[in-house]
Amino acid sequence: MNRRAVIFDLDGVLVSTDEFHYRAWKQMASEENIPFSRSVNEKLRGISRMESLEIILKNSSKKYSPSQKADLAERKNCYYKKLLEGLSPESVLPGVLDLLDGLKQQRFQIAVGSSSKNAPYILQKTGLDRFFDAAVDGSEIRKSKPDPEVFLLAAKKLGVPPGSCVVVEDAPAGILAAKAGGMAAVGIGSASSCALADWTAKSLQEAKASDFIGIFQSLR
Ligand code: BG6
Ligand code: MG
Repeated sequence: MNRRAVIFDLDGVLVSTDEFHYRAWKQMASEENIPFSRSVNEKLRGISRMESLEIILKNSSKKYSPSQKADLAERKNCYYKKLLEGLSPESVLPGVLDLLDGLKQQRFQIAVGSSSKNAPYILQKTGLDRFFDAAVDGSEIRKSKPDPEVFLLAAKKLGVPPGSCVVVEDAPAGILAAKAGGMAAVGIGSASSCALADWTAKSLQEAKASDFIGIFQSLR
């Protein structure tokens, strides 16, 4: 069995569902008259739904009870799921399928490690599910990134030691999670300027399987 693995975040790495999260939170926040900007949205990358809500509510003058907070999160998730209905195999970001094919040819194990409870639905709608050897979603973990739980569980499912895994992330919290788990980290998009990342690219269009071979060689 191959002892090297690449673990991909989902939202903002394989599919641009990060934009859908933004739009769904924006709609809920507008209805509640809570200021919500793209810069606040950046803090939500990789963070669980309820933790994201708490960050958004810091800008609210109104106090919400636990049950009201649950309703707000549920309302956002309804808007988000409506947007997800439009996903198809064409929604997969440029460069992703070529990279996954290349990694498989090089006999890497590949997995998804996502904080999202909607990850299984997204993987199925986009047809990405058939590519991966393992997947972990938000319903399987108790602590969200920057805790390494999601990536450690993905590595365990693959049977690959953490030190032989590279994580691909668009969230600085995800890069921290990879490092906390003893894994190498590739930062793309919003994490492409993250100093902790071992390798960075603007998008996966710029990444080739040979780059991952190089990352593993540099770790030795
Ligand atoms: C992560 C996103 O992938 O999933 C976060 O980066 C999101 O923005 C989190 O909050 C949880 O997603 P969901 O679909 O369970 O609300
Ligand atoms: Mg992400």
